[in-house]
Amino acid sequence: MDVHKAITTRRTIRRFQQKPIEPAVLERIVNAGRLAPSGANCQPVEFILVTEPALCRQVFATTAWAGRVTPRRTPQPAEQPTAWVVVLLNSQRGPATATADAAAAIENMLLTAVEASLGSCWIGSVQRKELAAVLSIPDHCPIDSVVAFGFPDESPLAEDTDDDIAYYLDDNDVLHVPKRKLKDVLHRQHYGS
Ligand SMILES: Cc1cc2nc3c(=O)[nH]c(=O)nc-3n(C[C@H](O)[C@H](O)[C@H](O)COP(=O)(O)O)c2cc1C
Repeated sequence: MDVHKAITTRRTIRRFQQKPIEPAVLERIVNAGRLAPSGANCQPVEFILVTEPALCRQVFATTAWAGRVTPRRTPQPAEQPTAWVVVLLNSQRGPATATADAAAAIENMLLTAVEASLGSCWIGSVQRKELAAVLSIPDHCPIDSVVAFGFPDESPLAEDTDDDIAYYLDDNDVLHVPKRKLKDVLHRQHYGS
């Protein structure tokens, strides 16, 4: 799959099949995160890969899903992610760009997941203190985000919008994700042109 296709077909997924992901595929995903750009090449981003089912459930319990349509896109037990990557920022290495470094690493992982026919959800709404305790995360490695992975069990649609950016569920329980139009976000030479 070429990169552009992965970018245009990727959607956040919040319902997953309960089929395990090959360990080598998960390692390939994390490795894609490792290779992301990093300010001054400080590389503060570290990753905890969680696949053990009981631990996955504990990670899940610290997360919040799809606030705009809650609780309808909070995965039920049989829809929950089968793997998680917890993204940490090691403050002993981190520059001021650490959050941007994490974002670059996460996007690399999301796109690598698409190539492997996997879905993902980048989650910023996480109870960090609780999750740090569950995973024995030291104080010098605050949690940036967590990313959920699994084989998709829904097919959300992206669509251009003039104004309203609120994602919504239609009568068939399909998630629609409005995206601002290119003409509204692209300025040529001067702002507003
Ligand atoms: C920094 C960041 C934090 C996010 N946090 C959450 C979250 O806590 N829970 C959730 O369900 N989705 C979360 N998302 C997913 C967004 O809701 C999703 O990207 C957005 O609705 C657009 O959909 P798309 O990814 O399919 O383009 C987050 C995305 C980003 C970039």
